[in-house]
Amino acid sequence: MSAPFSIITEATISVLIDTFYARVRNDPELGPIFAGAIKEDAWPAHLQKMYAFWSSVMLTSGRYKGNPVAVHQHVAGIAPPLFGNWLDLFEDTASELFIPEVAGRFVQAARRIAESLKLALFFRPDRPWTEDLRQRPAVTIPCA
Ligand code: HEM
Repeated sequence: MSAPFSIITEATISVLIDTFYARVRNDPELGPIFAGAIKEDAWPAHLQKMYAFWSSVMLTSGRYKGNPVAVHQHVAGIAPPLFGNWLDLFEDTASELFIPEVAGRFVQAARRIAESLKLALFFRPDRPWTEDLRQRPAVTIPCA
């Protein structure tokens, strides 16, 4: 298997996820947030979950069972502007590993999911929607 990949399989998804989260962990802004939420020994399980998530999104495998909104609700330090950092890293990684047409499909899906996550976590009808929400707490959604 050698990059750039032209097909989406469980194997190429796992290369993307491993590469992306290695970069996330080294990122000056995202790294500390992930380090605070995921203990060293919990990383293999997190990566497994992310393989399943992207397999569900891109291959409609139904492997992921979970509730990303409820999970992100409890991530300390998450804020709307950081979604831009997350997407930039994801886009760079996908573009390095996949041919442009396939990278574009990953990026489109990531942008769509990031937008709906951001709205679910931070949008409040009683205040204007701006990117300047760094100091504001997320809405509390009761978790099942
Ligand atoms: C600022 C942006 C983001 C930050 C800081 C962030 C952070 C995190 C952290 C720390 C976790 C682990 C939480 C835990 O296990 O306690 C997590 C889980 C997860 N994230 Fe994100 N995330 C971000 C954006 C995204 C985006 C854009 C997506 C999808 C495109 C995504 C998909 C997921 C999924 C599927 C999980 C696993 C949820 C589960 O446990 O079922 N995240 N995220």
